[in-house]
Amino acid sequence: MDSSNRLNDRPRVLITGASSGIGAQLAKDYLEDGWQVFGCGRNRERLVAIKGINPLIFDIGVRDAVQSAGKQLKKLLGENTLDLIILNAGTCEYIKAPLQFDDQLFERVIHTNLVAVGYCLNAFLPFLSHDGRLALMSSSSIYLALPRAEAYGSSKAAINYLAATLDASFAGHKESEHIRVSVICPGFVDTPLTEKNDFPMPMRVDVHTASKEIRLGLAKGKREIHFPKRFTCLLKLLSILPAGVWRKITLAMAPENKNKDAEL
Ligand SMILES: NC(=O)c1ccc[n+]([C@@H]2O[C@H](COP(=O)([O-])OP(=O)(O)OC[C@H]3O[C@@H](n4cnc5c(N)ncnc54)[C@H](OP(=O)(O)O)[C@@H]3O)[C@@H](O)[C@H]2O)c1
Repeated sequence: MDSSNRLNDRPRVLITGASSGIGAQLAKDYLEDGWQVFGCGRNRERLVAIKGINPLIFDIGVRDAVQSAGKQLKKLLGENTLDLIILNAGTCEYIKAPLQFDDQLFERVIHTNLVAVGYCLNAFLPFLSHDGRLALMSSSSIYLALPRAEAYGSSKAAINYLAATLDASFAGHKESEHIRVSVICPGFVDTPLTEKNDFPMPMRVDVHTASKEIRLGLAKGKREIHFPKRFTCLLKLLSILPAGVWRKITLAMAPENKNKDAEL
């Protein structure tokens, strides 16, 4: 077999948000495992620094830019298709004061984390192999309504619904019935996104652990990938408590009440 054929035999993955954090580590690890990686991001310098990556530089929040990236991808792929699409890019901002609801922050976060995912689905799904896998990046914040996460949590809860509904829709069509969908719900991961958080982040893991969990979960065909288990299972357990109990817990944890006796 000549070297160009060997290149064509390599599995292919498209990863959005490949220029930083979890996405960058996934890109490096898939490359090391012999995959062909199409890595997306806005930051050219950080993307091209990943040796071997096929960079696609665009803003996922601008529909025309995403469409152009789709055309660029078509040229790069030629007759080939993608085995895996990981829509990972995202942002996180927290509402500061619920009574002065920051609607612009809300719009920004929903746009990047949800609307832009729609742009990417429109532009990139046509290139997914009919027995390929689509993975959407959500968050463990969807298991429990956390204070100040009105924008971020809502955007990620919608991603879980989107993943589930896509899976059901794919199953109902002959040409897409073998496409599988995964949703990824990490706890805290040490990345530039969490660096700016001003609150404790229990059981935080590094990007190597995150990438390993995600790649393993995808290889096993898991529908929902969540980690670290001790953290995500605790959230899942708390989520079955009556809403009133969770309200009292969040009240007791609020910074202004930390020094008072919790009235549980
Ligand atoms: N870190 C955590 O604890 C954690 C936990 C749960 C879920 N997540 C999710 O995991 C994903 C990755 O987060 P991370 O922690 O790795 O964050 P990160 O280091 O800040 O990386 C975010 C990535 O998304 C890209 N991105 C953001 N907005 C974009 C836009 N408008 N257009 C194109 N690319 C854009 C960035 O690209 P550029 O820098 O090139 O613009 C960057 O590559 C996010 O969806 C996040 O919500 C993270």
